Amino acid sequence: MAGIDYTERIPNNVGLAENRRLQRALEEWQPKFLGWWMDMGPHGYQATETYLRTAVSVDAQGWAQFGWVRMPEYRWGIFLAEPGPGRRIAFGDHKGAPAWQEVPGEYRGVLRRLVVTQGDTEPASVEQQRRLGRTSPSLYDLRNLFQVNVEEGRHLWAMVFLLDAYFGRDGREESEALLQRRSGDRDRPRILGAFNEPTPDWLSYFMFTFFTDRDGKYQLAALAESGFDPLSRTCRFMLTEEAHHMFVGETGIGRVVQRACQLMREHKTDDVRRHGGIDLPTLQRYLNFHYSVSLDLFGSEISTNAANFYTMGLKGRFEEMKKTDDHQLKSATYPVTTLDGETLVARDEPALPSLNERLRDDYIADCQRGVDRWNRIIKEHGIDASLRLPHRGFHRAIGLCADVRVSPDGRVLTQAEWDAKKHAWLPTAEDQAWVESLMRPVTEAGKFAGWIAPPPRGVNGQPLDFEYVRLA
Ligand SMILES: [Fe+2]
Ligand SMILES: [Fe+2]
Repeated sequence: MAGIDYTERIPNNVGLAENRRLQRALEEWQPKFLGWWMDMGPHGYQATETYLRTAVSVDAQGWAQFGWVRMPEYRWGIFLAEPGPGRRIAFGDHKGAPAWQEVPGEYRGVLRRLVVTQGDTEPASVEQQRRLGRTSPSLYDLRNLFQVNVEEGRHLWAMVFLLDAYFGRDGREESEALLQRRSGDRDRPRILGAFNEPTPDWLSYFMFTFFTDRDGKYQLAALAESGFDPLSRTCRFMLTEEAHHMFVGETGIGRVVQRACQLMREHKTDDVRRHGGIDLPTLQRYLNFHYSVSLDLFGSEISTNAANFYTMGLKGRFEEMKKTDDHQLKSATYPVTTLDGETLVARDEPALPSLNERLRDDYIADCQRGVDRWNRIIKEHGIDASLRLPHRGFHRAIGLCADVRVSPDGRVLTQAEWDAKKHAWLPTAEDQAWVESLMRPVTEAGKFAGWIAPPPRGVNGQPLDFEYVRLA
């Protein structure tokens, strides 16, 4: 079961050869996907060989194989985690019933929407990142970017498999639409806000993989609990790939922090820009921006949709199985940050409609662990400074704080106060110009741009001066 059949035109571990109707639908979609990849995938590197890993089995140990691949020849395919024998629905009104192997008719529309919304983020991030190759700080980083890109492409395959296999004709139409929307396009934008923001430079990219990909991790984790078993198994395998994306973001920012600290020590100054680094206040402003737009992705604090998804058994909580309550939450409450006049206070709300906020809390705790690790780097350099997650109400466009201005330390501000201060809190045009000026490509194996420290080790046991990307 864990093996993937690479002799097939579409590699898979779902017995595609025995399902001719599905095979035909996916084989029709495949050239359209490749067309999209050529148009919207990494710009200028389609003929370049990259040292990439490909999934060869879906069990926890040793599922990856490394080799030289041109990205359009990457073996995208359909890989589901192994089924849990006798798996039952763990929460909601159907708790205890056998997990669904087919779409429950009454939830068809809702489930399709969940799959499409998740699926839409996958090609969106490839589109957002498509011009970063030209300014990569090293071949190591360039390789990691392409690895993330091909895996997001595979995540799109995973969602298209669900649409084509379980949702008939509307599923196939949605599969096409996933290739037609474009990140940032005025007429056909991607579904979620953060996926229409540009990723113009590598600092933004690392922030995106840390904060925005991590939203993906939490959404996938909640969908991995789904009573619809094919969705659960699809998401469980995607999560193993997502771990690498988190790694790229966390270590990427960690290395920028490390370089800033080295320059501060070496030159006995906070003004690391003079020495070609990215200063901690600029990092903080980028962090504030990417964190706040990623918080929006979890949706409104109080949401009937969230309650319905749970009650229907379609989308669970993070680590649902580890929770020791009744997994139905009909009479439970949950503390939600709300606006009480001019102050933000935590108030107990019914637990079911508060599930977005609960998932956001899990996410915030995870982000905080990363920030703590960056702060340890600063401390190890003997520097008295730290990075901080801003208050959850800061710079929000969705939810209870969307209509108020909130400072990073959680005070509700007047518009005039906000206008006077916002330049200290969010990246300015000048910050962006500075960061952009640093984005000069480094293409010699083993060399790194001056604004980022090298990583402690290479990929898959290879040395740092390995030629991770064979540039012509
Ligand atoms: Fe993804
Ligand atoms: Fe990702």
